[in-house]
Amino acid sequence: MNFISATGNADDLRDLEIYLEKAVSDDIFIKEICTPLIKGGKRLRPKLFLLCARTRKIYPAKKLLPLATALELIHTASLVHDDILDGAKKRRGVETLNAKYNAQIAVLVGDYLFAKAFQLVAENNYGDEVSLILSKLVKNLCIGEIAQDRALFQIPTLGEYYGRINLKTAFFLSTCCRLGGLISELENSEVENLANYGTSLGLAFQIVDDLLDFFGEEKITGKAVGGDLKSGVITLPVIRALQFEKNSAALKKILAQDKISLDDIKTAIKIISETDAVEYCKNRAASHIECARLDLPQNINQAVKFSLEQIADFVINRKW
Ligand code: FPP
Ligand code: MG
Repeated sequence: MNFISATGNADDLRDLEIYLEKAVSDDIFIKEICTPLIKGGKRLRPKLFLLCARTRKIYPAKKLLPLATALELIHTASLVHDDILDGAKKRRGVETLNAKYNAQIAVLVGDYLFAKAFQLVAENNYGDEVSLILSKLVKNLCIGEIAQDRALFQIPTLGEYYGRINLKTAFFLSTCCRLGGLISELENSEVENLANYGTSLGLAFQIVDDLLDFFGEEKITGKAVGGDLKSGVITLPVIRALQFEKNSAALKKILAQDKISLDDIKTAIKIISETDAVEYCKNRAASHIECARLDLPQNINQAVKFSLEQIADFVINRKW
């Protein structure tokens, strides 16, 4: 991703890594488990926050970095817990904590990271509004995951799918933008526009994620192909492919099984490819990205605006 230079905040991103390492260094076991864990993410959430926090009034980096770190820690905690729920064995090219240790350790490490995030927020006096926004974010992440978990192996309506990806992904990206806009002292309407940019970006991000789950390269995504289907999470490529009469019976047969094998996943990929599902998902993601671009407020720091547009391009074209 090469949007860093546009805002000149490469220093922030280097310092973010230092803050993250420090955040997992209070305890020897946590340090051992979490130092590799925090490596290799896209840092999309702190990047969005740091950019949006420079849309108008610019505070010193040391005021922004603890919150940027907290956002990445909340994201990491949610992935650690998500991997337990999904029974995932690989993330970012390495073993998940549930695979390397066990689910008990993974639950506790996720809880620890989560607590550490809120410690950083409290220590740095961001105030009640930020704490309330963050608690709403975590509540929504949980509600999104609960909705998904309660409907495993069931075919969601388009509305249910969108509701779920909004809660589990789009709301997070939107929150990062909102927090940045608030800290940078934008007008209320501009903060809302930035938050809407984050929502649209997040919807596109998750649709691309759901496509990559079937059609991504394991070496690049760092995750096993077909993980969603294996764990019973029915996503947009499947929802769309099911609308084709010729293909839906075979897909439903796979979904009705107790255990979905690697061969089933290969068959599902073939069935999906015979429909227009890939094109359809790409078009949907592209139209959300279009909305994201249109939502960007006009009167903000132009270098930041350019970087946010570049992030939109990255999200739609990404392979990981
Ligand atoms: C990844 O989605 C997971 C999420 C976006 C959210 C997970 C949230 C929770 C488990 C709630 C608990 C939250 C905290 C803070 C402890 P995905 O499974 O579609 O993506 P993947 O393919 O990368 O796993
Ligand atoms: Mg998952």
